[in-house]
Amino acid sequence: MSNTQHKEQAHSEEHSSPIKTPKQLITTVVLAFVLPILIIFLLVNLVTSGNQVGAGSDTLGPEATAKRIAPVARLDLVDASGPKVFKTGEQVYKAVCTGCHAAGVAGAPKFGDAAAWSVPVKTGLDTMVSNAIKGKNAMPAKGGNPTLDDFEITRAVVYMANNSGAKFAEPAEPAPAAPAK
Ligand code: HEC
Repeated sequence: MSNTQHKEQAHSEEHSSPIKTPKQLITTVVLAFVLPILIIFLLVNLVTSGNQVGAGSDTLGPEATAKRIAPVARLDLVDASGPKVFKTGEQVYKAVCTGCHAAGVAGAPKFGDAAAWSVPVKTGLDTMVSNAIKGKNAMPAKGGNPTLDDFEITRAVVYMANNSGAKFAEPAEPAPAAPAK
């Protein structure tokens, strides 16, 4: 008899759950739901991360890079009814071109580096402007900001070049276009 009792006791101890309080029960139930979901979520993420773009994709292209490193706040107050107010070369440079030309990123001639600028300067302002408008190698068209006017690009080129040893004349502002009918 004592033998059976002993066995029964051992039996019930074996089956006693580690969950002793309602709080533990709730924790267990929640974890039992949340953990698998979390793991599934992470696995799905891992599998689909193959679709995320990395090296060699567009995200590292000069245009995307220029966008990423562009200043966060760019406030353009434009009076749509009035004549277009062109940004100065300095404004354009500071807003757009500085991203690459201040430090000489990706082979860009560095602002103030007369030796580096002497190469394009020799080709003439027209060539430089046309390269800046169309883009050249790592430089995207218009420095990545297609809203810039060609005249603003010209001004920025002159501003950069003249601060880097060149002596181009400040370009004349184009006559305001005839209002659209
Ligand atoms: C994303 C980087 C980047 C930005 C932004 C950028 N540039 Fe450049 N720029 C370059 C690189 C790189 C070169 C050198 C191209 C080459 O010769 O290989 C270059 C070259 C130039 C040249 C010399 C072109 C020639 O004839 O060889 C001019 C002029 C120029 N940039 C003007 C500008 C102006 C103006 C802006 C702003 C509106 C601007 N860049 C914005 C990267 C940039």
